Amino acid sequence: MSKSSGNDRSILNPGGYEKSRGLRQLTTGWIKPYRGWLMGILLSMLMESLVSLAAPWPLKIVIDNVINEHPLPQGLHWLRSLLPGDQFMNLAIVCGILLVLLTAIGGLASFIDNYLTEYVAQNLAKDLRREIYHHLQSLSLAYYDTHQVGKLLSTLTTDVDTIQEFISSTILNLLVDLLTILCMLGLMVYLKWDFALICAGMAPLLLLFMLRFKKEVKKATRELRMDQAEMISVMQTGLESIRTVNVFGRQELEEDRLKRVNDDTVNAALKARKIKSIVSPVFALGVSLCLAFVLWRGSILIRAGLMTLGTLTVYLSYLNKFFSPVKDLAKMTVGIAQATVAIERVQQILTADSTIADNPGAQDPGTMKGEIVFEHVFFSYIPDIPVLSDINLCIAPRQHIGICGPTGGGKSTLASLIPRLYNLSSGQIRIDGINISDLKLAELRKGIAFVLQDTMLFFGSVSENIAYGRPNATEEEIVQAAKQANADEFIRKLPKGYGSLIGERGITLSGGERQRIGLARVFLRNSPIVILDEPTASLDSGSEKLLTEAMERLMKDRTVITISHKINTLIHCDKIILLKDGMVAGEGTHQRLMAENPFYAALNQN
Ligand SMILES: Nc1ncnc2c1ncn2[C@@H]1O[C@H](COP(=O)(O)OP(=O)(O)O)[C@@H](O)[C@H]1O
Ligand SMILES: [Mg+2]
Repeated sequence: MSKSSGNDRSILNPGGYEKSRGLRQLTTGWIKPYRGWLMGILLSMLMESLVSLAAPWPLKIVIDNVINEHPLPQGLHWLRSLLPGDQFMNLAIVCGILLVLLTAIGGLASFIDNYLTEYVAQNLAKDLRREIYHHLQSLSLAYYDTHQVGKLLSTLTTDVDTIQEFISSTILNLLVDLLTILCMLGLMVYLKWDFALICAGMAPLLLLFMLRFKKEVKKATRELRMDQAEMISVMQTGLESIRTVNVFGRQELEEDRLKRVNDDTVNAALKARKIKSIVSPVFALGVSLCLAFVLWRGSILIRAGLMTLGTLTVYLSYLNKFFSPVKDLAKMTVGIAQATVAIERVQQILTADSTIADNPGAQDPGTMKGEIVFEHVFFSYIPDIPVLSDINLCIAPRQHIGICGPTGGGKSTLASLIPRLYNLSSGQIRIDGINISDLKLAELRKGIAFVLQDTMLFFGSVSENIAYGRPNATEEEIVQAAKQANADEFIRKLPKGYGSLIGERGITLSGGERQRIGLARVFLRNSPIVILDEPTASLDSGSEKLLTEAMERLMKDRTVITISHKINTLIHCDKIILLKDGMVAGEGTHQRLMAENPFYAALNQN
């Protein structure tokens, strides 16, 4: 039996996915294809750290061994004899060249590191967007009944960007920074161990402070992202339904709505920023404490002749640099917090399991004959609120069935179950004797064509819109379909005929014209099963006539289910099913129902 629709984890158990999986998923799953590139990044980063470790040494040599003429350490004598002439000045020139060389190497490594990191981050974001979009496309419509498109869009854009940012700014720095810190500590201990202890003592204090911080940052970020998504959602709904907004003169209401979420977003952003902004000052304070100590103690030692000025210079330069990876680590906790929230939100979409997918061993129905059987079909959108109960129907190939009944009776729902837009709660639907959940979804849907109450047109030419259900159709086929749908005439009168653009910045069509384009789509698709869900409901009688005429042409040699609350449009059906409160309340020809079913007769009166 198929799972109840609407039963996806994120509704029943918001945030109930494994949180800790976030970063691990990122590192093991998404990053995996880029291992080679990451190695390159790591190498160039290591090179950068080495350079930054070596950078103060030429200065130290110049101060100590050139200016103050201390003897060079044993291992470094060769530096002096690299150039002929005055040994002290040679040493200074060699040091200068070394300095430039180091900078050049560091610059090259940094260039490679930056470029490769951006490459990985951009490509990973691309993969991620595709994965999310693919998953969204495969989700059951039930998911969209409970999730706002604006929020999904916000994850597809902002959250993916955050993850990308995190990768390009943070991920490997972590490793390299730790390494740099260790190396610096080693060198500092070698130079003057008691100084090193000060720094070593301060670092864990600062890190500890940061860890406590991370939780707060994460919480604030989560709130901020929720508000931002809400804001996009509000704007999107407001703009999408701008026609209704105008008709009811509710622009102010919509603007108020935006103002509220807009304010919330600002407040949340300020709160998050406040928390994040405490990091730098606290760090600067820690660093200055260390610096002050080193300056004071260093002066004493130099004056007593126990330390060289060069060593103090190296020390001060290391101290500055030492805290920058520590600070990076601290900032990273902010980055990690933000990325974790983004990954959570992405995973919320990716783990939504209300997908409708092919069952293992799904069959290809081949050319459908068009027999449809409902057997004890139960369905509900929301668990425990039944919309359809125990529906049993038997529709023969090429039979014309009418479904009528009061609004909200479940007519559209029943029709949407046939192409498996939703999974059944229980029971089964068979087409040509095969359970639809054992059919290949794409093939099943190819066999069924819909005309709905309102035809959705996409931005593009009239031809493209007609060919939406069969993109490889030829121009003649498109024109033929339009002719059959009584649409050819009005299309030819458009400024550019079949090439006229519809939708955004294109021409607008009347309701009747849109419906005939919808019908042309169905003619072109040429499916053996056709479902007409109140296609004339919103039309005036003039356009209704043109449409009805075309529909009669369409119905020939196909299984047709016509849904309508107007009984007069169903009189010619082979069989009419009366659907009331999600149950079949009568079944038969128009004449028989009129004679035997008082409710049907009453419906006919209206
Ligand atoms: N996407 C949905 N999510 C939740 N409930 C829905 C959804 N679509 C329809 N319903 C509910 O299901 C019932 C049947 O709706 P529907 O099939 O559209 O009726 P009809 O087409 O006969 O007017 C109604 O009570 C409606 O509120
Ligand atoms: Mg309906």
